[in-house]
Amino acid sequence: MSTVITDDKIPNNVNLSGDKRLQRALEAWQPKFIDWWKEMGPSPWNAKDIYLRTAVSVETEGWAHFDYVKMPDYRWGIFLEPKVDRVHHFGDNMGQPVWDEVPGEFRNLLRRLIVTQGDTEPASVEQQRLLGETAPSLYDLRNLFQVNVEEGRHLWAMVYLLHTYFGRDGREEAEELLQRRSGDADKPRILGAFNEPTSHWLSFFMFTMFTDRDGKYQLAALDESGFDPLARTCRFMLTEEAHHMFVGETGVQRVVKRACELIKQDPNGDVRAQGGVDLPTIQKYLNLWYTLSLDLFGGEVSSNAADAFAAGLKGRYKEARYDEHTLVGSTFEMDVFENGKVVHKDVAMRNALNEVLRTEYIKDCQRGVDRWNKTIKDEGIDFELKLPSNKFHRQIGMWSTQAFTPDGQMIDQATFAARRGAWLPNDADETYIKSLMHPVYERGRMANWIAPPLKGINGLPGDFEYVKQP
Ligand SMILES: [Fe+2]
Ligand SMILES: [Fe+2]
Repeated sequence: MSTVITDDKIPNNVNLSGDKRLQRALEAWQPKFIDWWKEMGPSPWNAKDIYLRTAVSVETEGWAHFDYVKMPDYRWGIFLEPKVDRVHHFGDNMGQPVWDEVPGEFRNLLRRLIVTQGDTEPASVEQQRLLGETAPSLYDLRNLFQVNVEEGRHLWAMVYLLHTYFGRDGREEAEELLQRRSGDADKPRILGAFNEPTSHWLSFFMFTMFTDRDGKYQLAALDESGFDPLARTCRFMLTEEAHHMFVGETGVQRVVKRACELIKQDPNGDVRAQGGVDLPTIQKYLNLWYTLSLDLFGGEVSSNAADAFAAGLKGRYKEARYDEHTLVGSTFEMDVFENGKVVHKDVAMRNALNEVLRTEYIKDCQRGVDRWNKTIKDEGIDFELKLPSNKFHRQIGMWSTQAFTPDGQMIDQATFAARRGAWLPNDADETYIKSLMHPVYERGRMANWIAPPLKGINGLPGDFEYVKQP
């Protein structure tokens, strides 16, 4: 099962050649994917040799192969974790064998979960397609492309499930995944954060820190799934996803570190006068991308979440850590918005599962912010980055109808509008950050607004030629 066929058109460990119909269908989808990549991916870089990691198996050791590759020649493959005997370990079907086929009554719910996840993958490539023009170093340029090709592989992972298990509907959904476009008014991507522009590298780092991390939690919840092919697919995607969050967390950390150095270099502590990104501006972009990402978890009280858990399709983050797995009669203590007031109360656990997952995500984000604050402290600067309240700047869920400050105080919309530019990036911030974005493509050099990485990729030095120059 885990033997990888690398000489197939589509590398895979799912015995694709054993199912000729499926193989033909995916081989017919492949050129459309490549067309999409050439149109919507980082096209000016398609002819360059990039030092990239390619998944070649699902073995814990040695699953990745590093070498120079031109992106359109990247070997996007289909990899599922090996099958083991599993039973449903949460929900109404506890103890029964997991499903290898889609159960009829959950077909629509399951298809929606897969399509929604699948849609985020090409969306982020589209959002990031122009960033190659302004990367702060070859190291960063390579990391951008690494993230991009792996999001492409994640699209393959979801398309494999759609083609294999959802018949004609699935094939149609797979086509539509290549037709929607991030930010397009007529055919936008499904989720809000994936239609926001990622127009410079500060947003890219915040995106990979916060939005890719939402992906981690969604994939981890699906990794628990009683639909076994989905669980095995998501588990392997998580392996790749860790690097995306590394790019985001260390990217922001390097911008923060550089800001601190520039504070000390300037007689007035003015980072912008030194051509850096000041810490209050970093806080604003944190506020923006963190809150956009909170929205991705969906409504605080949700019958869809309850249904997906009851069916055994989507569990909690690391379900095995919990003692009780049916959640009948249990409750979750949380803030809710009732009759214009914030009320702290118990909500039926199954209906609160989006909030339960979001709460785990918030803890994870906080650990990252703590590490950024340690950098600031180590540099001897008196400043603290903070995650804003989960009620601040929400577009989805119960907090979206009311305005709140970053501290979580309820305010009226007029006050929010007046102060918005102090809390979230305003036009002047956006213009300033863009003014810093100039490509630095000499080996080992780094843009002025960001500190170098602590180490290079795959044990190589930081000044390695990660993208081959002509
Ligand atoms: Fe992904
Ligand atoms: Fe990712």
